[in-house]
Amino acid sequence: MDYQQILDTIQEEMSYRDVKGKVASYIPELAKVDPKKFGLHLYRNEHEFYGFGDHEEKFSIQSISKVFTLSLAIRNLGTKVWERVHVEPSGNPFNSLMQLEQDRGIPRNPFINSGALVISDILVDVLDNPKKELLEFVRKITGEDHIDYDENVAQSELSSGYRNIALVNYMKALGNIKCDVEKIVDFYFYSCSIAMSCKSLAKAFMLYANKGAILHTGEQVLNPSTVKRLNALMQTCGFYDESGEFSFEVGLPGKSGVGGGIAAIHPQQYSVAVWSPVLNKKGNSELGMKALERLTTLTGLSVF
Ligand code: DON
Repeated sequence: MDYQQILDTIQEEMSYRDVKGKVASYIPELAKVDPKKFGLHLYRNEHEFYGFGDHEEKFSIQSISKVFTLSLAIRNLGTKVWERVHVEPSGNPFNSLMQLEQDRGIPRNPFINSGALVISDILVDVLDNPKKELLEFVRKITGEDHIDYDENVAQSELSSGYRNIALVNYMKALGNIKCDVEKIVDFYFYSCSIAMSCKSLAKAFMLYANKGAILHTGEQVLNPSTVKRLNALMQTCGFYDESGEFSFEVGLPGKSGVGGGIAAIHPQQYSVAVWSPVLNKKGNSELGMKALERLTTLTGLSVF
């Protein structure tokens, strides 16, 4: 199969599409991003990779970081994580307070904001220096030491993230938060601010395509059973209340972020990351979803 040719076809097809959504503006720093940015990168193995457009430009990975923080939490706490957060699709917006109230402070899953805030609480509790250790994990699985937090994005969200602060406080009131609220939101906002390119993200996600082994070293950093569960969660919960639609259209486990990125994998076949900042009504990249639909259609390789 000629992957580069398939990618070139996707790039051309997408250039004719009329995009209707808007870039995220509730985090002021994200509103400044050029809506025309578009890139995609796919890894098959260490020596076989393909890309187009802005695939080497860094952007704010936002909620894609929730896969990395959950991976770290499971590495440290194992299945005890599931005493604090459930594993069901939410069917509601990613920052819903109403659902958290209905669920009595136990988040539906770790990929909505409340769930990731519980995961942040766990990491702040068990790690000596959670920000440093998260960055070390991401650098290790990519082999790229230049990957870092974006201070401007983190500060921008710290000064405007009242909804997330409300979610933590609400869970604290119901006994599902242990640490100091300020420390938790600080770690959470910094996690979301990590800047990576499609190429680096696709490299990182090879971990989930390869049963927990790092692409360039082969080191096993997550066990296959953990990866099976992470992929199941990406499949069922990776796109908030659009997870069904993503499964239906694309058919890959994946995770999106409001920076306009999507990372997805096909177990044993490939990892892929796409970036286009314009979001649809559910907060997922409009063009990114469409591009991935074309990828699984043109390659004939989805998990279904
Ligand atoms: O907490 C927020 O709202 C953003 N930092 C991340 C949102 C996002 O990417 C989608 N949410 N799960």
